[in-house]
Amino acid sequence: MLAALATTLVAACDDAESMGTMPQDDPTGAGDTASGDGGDDGTDGGDGGETGDETAGETQDDGPADGDHYPAEVSDALDLPWPPFDYSPALPAHFQTPTVDTFDNTPADNPLSDPGATLGRVLFYDVALSANETISCASCHAQADGFSDPVTLSEGFEGGLTGRNSMGLANARFYDSGHFFWDERAQTLEEQTLMPIQDPVEMGLTLAELVERVEAQPYYAVLFEDAFGDAQVDADRISAALAQFVRSIVSYRTDWDEGIAAAGNPMADFPNYSAQQNLGKQVFFGPGRCAPCHLDNGGPQGPPGMAPQNLAIFQITVATNNGLDAGPNDDNGVGDALDDPQRDGDFKSPSLRNVAQTAPYMHDGRFETLAEVVEHYDNGVQAHPNLDQRLRGPGGQPLQLGLDQAQKLALVAFLETLTDDALAQDPRWSDPFRD
Ligand code: HEC
Ligand code: HEC
Repeated sequence: MLAALATTLVAACDDAESMGTMPQDDPTGAGDTASGDGGDDGTDGGDGGETGDETAGETQDDGPADGDHYPAEVSDALDLPWPPFDYSPALPAHFQTPTVDTFDNTPADNPLSDPGATLGRVLFYDVALSANETISCASCHAQADGFSDPVTLSEGFEGGLTGRNSMGLANARFYDSGHFFWDERAQTLEEQTLMPIQDPVEMGLTLAELVERVEAQPYYAVLFEDAFGDAQVDADRISAALAQFVRSIVSYRTDWDEGIAAAGNPMADFPNYSAQQNLGKQVFFGPGRCAPCHLDNGGPQGPPGMAPQNLAIFQITVATNNGLDAGPNDDNGVGDALDDPQRDGDFKSPSLRNVAQTAPYMHDGRFETLAEVVEHYDNGVQAHPNLDQRLRGPGGQPLQLGLDQAQKLALVAFLETLTDDALAQDPRWSDPFRD
């Protein structure tokens, strides 16, 4: 069974890499799963009709009338709307660029559907997925904390601690390589979602136990049927639904999004920003040198003065070394995962969207505040042999930014404009269990 799963996962990975972001059965040919539906601003979440054409197991058209779709086994345990929430809202224009499209790691064989993400949401919040039924994915990826958690290392089902800081999940879908974890050891999100469940510290189930657990909950049969066309439970389907839910967590309603829509150009002052936030934005693009990594184009920057092609995804495109340590130590990230010393100290960074909610920071949670993060880049970058070129001066030595106090405070104020309060409160990503 594991071998079969691995084969499927490898196939999914190949599909993603050959740029199959288009659902194979998409009858419109519009392709883009992020924005192809159009027409719905997504804030009411109640209109599932438009996305039905992309779902594998659509039942809306011939199902019972609104309100009585779910039997008591579902509605006694869960507060779920029917038709399901819309998990593919139209995204703002700055998301709809060829560059951002290339970042989307949705594989052709697991397109996002509303019933699929709904099933994923229930699985994500279900403590039945841990050995002693005490924790769920959401225990360490809380909606109010940018889908991360507020502690340095997270507690697993028996109180053991994870080896690294939890990662925020917003916009995880837009990571070019589709690799997951700080050290990128999961090749796809479909592979990643089963790993915490089997992790001996985190949730502690075998895949066979997982399937039994899910089958034992009376509310899942209908949800699997809605998502996949029949009630069969297997590990591939659990992983696919969880991946759909995680990919659906898109942050697009921050002050930054409002500002870029109003100003058009990231270098112009945003009308909705304070003077301090606008100064911080200048530092982010200019003397702070943050944008080349955290607002990466996935290719060469345009000519100087030209707006970058990616104004939406505040995420590094390739794991790299940001000079936290001077040399190899007991956690070398990608270097250890690949057994390649040339990659020692390389780590993926989660999106900076909602970063004000995801403290503490870095793979080991070493910095408590954004002010400490800014101090690191200003004067604390270490001369690791693999330090990224973008953090080196002309002689190859670690950069000293020399920002003044006003610039540092402004940079933190700017990072706080990337907080998406609408996402933190949106019922689509909230706990569906009644208690
Ligand atoms: C006990 C806490 C804990 C639980 C439970 C947990 N996670 Fe995580 N999650 C973490 C930590 C810690 C990391 C970073 C681990 C690493 O990189 O080695 C992480 C990383 C991730 C990532 C990688 C994000 C990225 O951008 O690379 C995803 C996705 C994720 N978790 C999803 C899930 C899902 C889905 C579940 C439930 C099936 C889950 N997690 C359960 C703590 C947890
Ligand atoms: C060379 C590329 C690079 C540059 C330039 C860079 N960063 Fe980072 N950043 C990273 C990497 C890589 C990580 C993850 C490192 C780790 O945890 O080991 C990271 C992590 C972070 C984190 C923590 C994210 C989290 O969820 O824990 C913040 C915040 C951050 N950077 C802000 C900034 C700011 C602000 C600037 C500009 C002053 C900046 N970065 C410049 C590569 C870069």
